[in-house]
Amino acid sequence: MSEQKKFYITTPIYYPSGNPHIGHCYTTLACDVVARLKRMQGMDVMFLTGTDEHGQKIEDKAKEAGVTPQKYVDDIVANFKKLWATLGISYDRYIRTTDPYHVESVQNIFKELYDRGYIYKGEYTGKYCKPCESFWTESQLVDGKCPDCGRECVDASEEAYFFKLSEFGPKLEKLLTDEELDFLEPKSRVNEMINNFIKPGLQDLCVSRTSFKWGIPVTFDPDHVVYVWVDALSNYITALGYGNTTYNDYDKYWPADIHVMAKEIVRFHTLIWPAILMALDLPLPKKVIGHGWITFGGGKMSKSSGNVIDPFILCERYGVDALRYDLLREMPFGSDCPYSNEMMFNRINSDLANDLGNLVSRTVAMVFKYFDGKLPAEREAEPLDEELLSMFDALPSEAIKDFETLHISDGLEKIFRCIARANKYIDETAPWILAKDESKKIRLATVLYNLLDCVRRASILLSPVMPHVCPKIFEQIGATAENTTLDSASVRGALALDVEVKKGEVLFPRIDIEKELKELEALNPKKEEPKNENLEPLKDPCVFDDFLKLDIRAGKILECENVPKSDKLLKFKIDDGFGERQILSGIAKYYKPEDLIGKTVAMIVNFPPRKMMGYESNGMILSARAEDGGYRVVELNKDVKPGADIS
Ligand code: MSP
Repeated sequence: MSEQKKFYITTPIYYPSGNPHIGHCYTTLACDVVARLKRMQGMDVMFLTGTDEHGQKIEDKAKEAGVTPQKYVDDIVANFKKLWATLGISYDRYIRTTDPYHVESVQNIFKELYDRGYIYKGEYTGKYCKPCESFWTESQLVDGKCPDCGRECVDASEEAYFFKLSEFGPKLEKLLTDEELDFLEPKSRVNEMINNFIKPGLQDLCVSRTSFKWGIPVTFDPDHVVYVWVDALSNYITALGYGNTTYNDYDKYWPADIHVMAKEIVRFHTLIWPAILMALDLPLPKKVIGHGWITFGGGKMSKSSGNVIDPFILCERYGVDALRYDLLREMPFGSDCPYSNEMMFNRINSDLANDLGNLVSRTVAMVFKYFDGKLPAEREAEPLDEELLSMFDALPSEAIKDFETLHISDGLEKIFRCIARANKYIDETAPWILAKDESKKIRLATVLYNLLDCVRRASILLSPVMPHVCPKIFEQIGATAENTTLDSASVRGALALDVEVKKGEVLFPRIDIEKELKELEALNPKKEEPKNENLEPLKDPCVFDDFLKLDIRAGKILECENVPKSDKLLKFKIDDGFGERQILSGIAKYYKPEDLIGKTVAMIVNFPPRKMMGYESNGMILSARAEDGGYRVVELNKDVKPGADIS
């Protein structure tokens, strides 16, 4: 017996810096379709997804939220997993870069690269913001200043390890231009990589940092943590057991058949990742596919104007498979795709409710009406049938090829062209007229059989995209496990000749677009525009529990002075009822320090301490924006004593 073929497909590992959204859904769904298809082809599939959990951003976000980085990522990872379960994502393994086996492997990989001479110690130079203790690249600066606090940054350097990416230019160019290998698709991205990155000369890559801690420590130099890409990209092999003993699948599945991602990280997967693998002397992945972005009203997801894009809400209201279908159908291969709820509703109504849903329900209803639900086995073909059936004969190989190459939208379009042809066949054959003539009974049965069999063939091909609805269709049209295999999609007339159909639920209820848009808007009310430009727009709704987390207290200002070299900051000593605390506040432009002494103000006291211009601030004084755009402290009544809680 020949050995079962292996197939390994991966999504990027997502940053759990915020909750998953529709954009993450697209890549994961596209991989899910291919994984399901490959399983239908009898392959032994490994479908990997996961989360990329280290780095400064996560460390900062956790700090803001007042929790440990591990707690912060644990909560968001739970949401990713919940969303994948809701969407029916059939991943085989979920890797978290905080998993101990991954940490161990990355440490081994880093050491191996160092021992082989591909990693060396050097100096990282960049723009440094002292108060924020952060390095920035030139392009990250806003108006030449720190993007976080708006202060001047200075040229500075820190010790760091570098990967010798610069050595790999010619090899990478060969990899990307080798037509037989066909390493990267779409082809337009190949030119982008060569012209924008390889031709100008690849720079060595900074692969360790000392300025933050939330990362994998370098074993032989523990002040350093592994910086981003060596940690993240290695996931594709560590998840198989490379460099660890937790898994033993590396020999079985590596090299990957396809790495799928959106365009912005193609560079990392087609330059840095192959270079790391070359340096380790490991085989390269077979293919990298970089799809476009789902864009939301000019690029940014917008929660205004009823455009709620919470995937959980969409699944609950319109069905998981409708959302799966819509996202996969709308995204053209290689280019961007704007998302709107209205577009999704139109797509569901036209393709799913009208074309597919109606074809199934009309056909099943006619089998009931004219034959009590069970067709007679005799047949009477006519030349007209051939056009329909030959179109379905050609469909499977074309649709499968499209799906396999991630041209999923094209494949779906072809399937729905055939479905539309089947609907036309109903009009051409007019079963209701045949039914009036007893001598046409066998012809009528033939027409209905052809329709059922075409529904079967289309639904087999649709099942990787709509894995929840297609089994329901099979049940309604009387299909069985034997005649719903992928191979049987190519077989004409595989349904039993005397097939018996079943009544079932409406597969895709029609959406009342106006009504739904209004209801979604009500779920997420459109915000009022501010009446004057000094007013900040209203924020998103939040829950009362969020408010309860803040500890807001009254405090009496004992001392107040300007912070040297800062035109913004005032330094306060405040009686908080429990003792004295130091707080810094950016209101120096609006007050003389002495005018504030003696005032009782409101302040938040349970934020983690923060360094500003070298001074520690232990809280935040609440201020209101005044008409002139400046700020005034929120003053409390004289009979409110320091330490009083504010709610
Ligand atoms: N952690 C890195 C990837 C490391 S892989 C070794 C990362 N994470 S991310 O959370 O920013 O995810 C980026 C990926 O999410 C994109 O490449 C794409 O697959 C998916 N998408 C996120 N938003 C998207 C859209 N709006 N549209 C389409 N895909 C999007 O980068």
